[in-house]
Amino acid sequence: MDTTLAGGNLTIVKHPLVKHKLTMLRDRRTPKKIFKELVDEIAMLMAYEATADLSLEPVEVQTPLEQAMGWQVSGKKLTLVPILRAGLGMVEGILRLVPSARVGHIGLYRDHDTLEPVDYYFKVPADVTERDFFLLDPMLATGGSAVSAISSLKRVGASRIRLLCLVAAPEGVRRLHAAHPEIQIFCAALDRELNEHGYILPGLGDAGDRLFGTR
Ligand code: PRP
Ligand code: URA
Repeated sequence: MDTTLAGGNLTIVKHPLVKHKLTMLRDRRTPKKIFKELVDEIAMLMAYEATADLSLEPVEVQTPLEQAMGWQVSGKKLTLVPILRAGLGMVEGILRLVPSARVGHIGLYRDHDTLEPVDYYFKVPADVTERDFFLLDPMLATGGSAVSAISSLKRVGASRIRLLCLVAAPEGVRRLHAAHPEIQIFCAALDRELNEHGYILPGLGDAGDRLFGTR
């Protein structure tokens, strides 16, 4: 692992359940159904970490026995933005934790030859400036897709954006830090490198294809 990248704006979620589930996800023998369930579960565990600094406000609550003080998350409007397609696999798990979150979508695919992202869809809630965005994509490889998605979000006025991915490559983290230095990245693993086709090593293969059974 490139330890120079960890810390600062890169948080590697080190929970034992995340490590266990990620190892199952990497396994080439893991079938599509289990792969999908694992992406969903890891996304939920990562969202637990990525929401750890949400601010709270005190609130009164009536228990069956007496009046008590409790807490509620204050005023944040969370928006999940999966990068199509593979980011879709992370949405449901996070919505189970934060059911009131809105969901936007950004459509991007990597051109096979240039590895640069090609834009094909963009839709987010209208009140952009009031919202906190969690950009979702299992893979941060060259970083082109994440950089482009964040630029698109900023262009419409978003400023509070975090990226949640499962596997990141050092190349992608560096490119994202260079283009958008203030953006916080949460990942489950920082892998070794990219191969000549832009795939993460050791990685988990093509996340979209494994989630949706395509090639
Ligand atoms: C994959 C992945 C990311 C992107 C990462 O998507 O889900 O969006 O590649 O690569 P990058 O960091 O080099 O941009 P892909 O383009 O294969 O589209 P898909 O999800 O529709 O399969
Ligand atoms: N996209 C993927 O799905 N996997 C990789 O390893 C790189 C990009």
